[in-house]
Amino acid sequence: MLIVCGPASTTLGHKVAETLGVRSVDVDSKLFPDGECYIRFMEDLKDDEAVIVQSTYPPSNIHLMQLFLMIDTALDLGVKSVSVVVPYLAYARQDKAFRPNEAVSIKTILHILEGLKVGKLVTVTAHEPEVFQNAGFPCINLSAIEVLSEYFMKAGIRRPMVFAPDKKARRMAEEASRLIGGDYGWFSKERDRITGEITMRRVDEHNVEGKDIILLDDIISTGGTTATAVKMLREAGAERVFSACVHALLIDDAYQRILNSGAEAVVATDTIPRDVSLVTVAQIIAKAIK
Ligand code: R5P
Repeated sequence: MLIVCGPASTTLGHKVAETLGVRSVDVDSKLFPDGECYIRFMEDLKDDEAVIVQSTYPPSNIHLMQLFLMIDTALDLGVKSVSVVVPYLAYARQDKAFRPNEAVSIKTILHILEGLKVGKLVTVTAHEPEVFQNAGFPCINLSAIEVLSEYFMKAGIRRPMVFAPDKKARRMAEEASRLIGGDYGWFSKERDRITGEITMRRVDEHNVEGKDIILLDDIISTGGTTATAVKMLREAGAERVFSACVHALLIDDAYQRILNSGAEAVVATDTIPRDVSLVTVAQIIAKAIK
């Protein structure tokens, strides 16, 4: 097996290869003046089972195109098989037609991967794992909740409670609270599909006064969901609120927006390389592809 360290996941790719003790191959990439992608493997790939590690955070379309070019080229160059590790899978949030006549984008991404003859897809805390049920190839959805929880267990959290900012994140919060200790609570969230505006309300009845809260979401994008929840928890008397997520997209001023809302810190995994990516998923990926 060899690990191809895609341009979007060079550091993580190397960590996975190191953990497994296998060869890693770097990839040269650039953008042509018209915005088209260029890809070149820095070493021969022939006869190996290639595992391409490439996250698809913004610029998502470029990172996806790089992934498609790497898959096709690796097969052209004579590898035995290609599996892809896409730690953050772009377009996964558009997992159904929320309004009539909308594209179900994740379905299209899976169709493209199938057409490119991908042997297997490994991803981390996918937004809606059910979308993989109809994929024409094996898909493995790894959970990053254990590694994120371990971080907080070591961080000296006092009187902990885990919160989910919406119904979908509730399962994650429940799992994390079993590991970290304390109760878990959650919000209900409605998003206006046209304006993107959100309305949130507490659904649980726990007393958060004096508690250290870990507010756990799969993705932080604009930070709107997290900032709203942090504010409400602080107003309800929470001592400290730590924002935790698997995928820190952190678009524009999202990080500052979350701190301004009263959060202590933002902690994320390295599915997306950011300053807040303090928890690595390299070991869980390595274990899954071994
Ligand atoms: C949505 O269902 C996701 O789980 C996240 O809650 C959402 O993507 C966060 O977006 P934002 O940071 O823009 O509020």
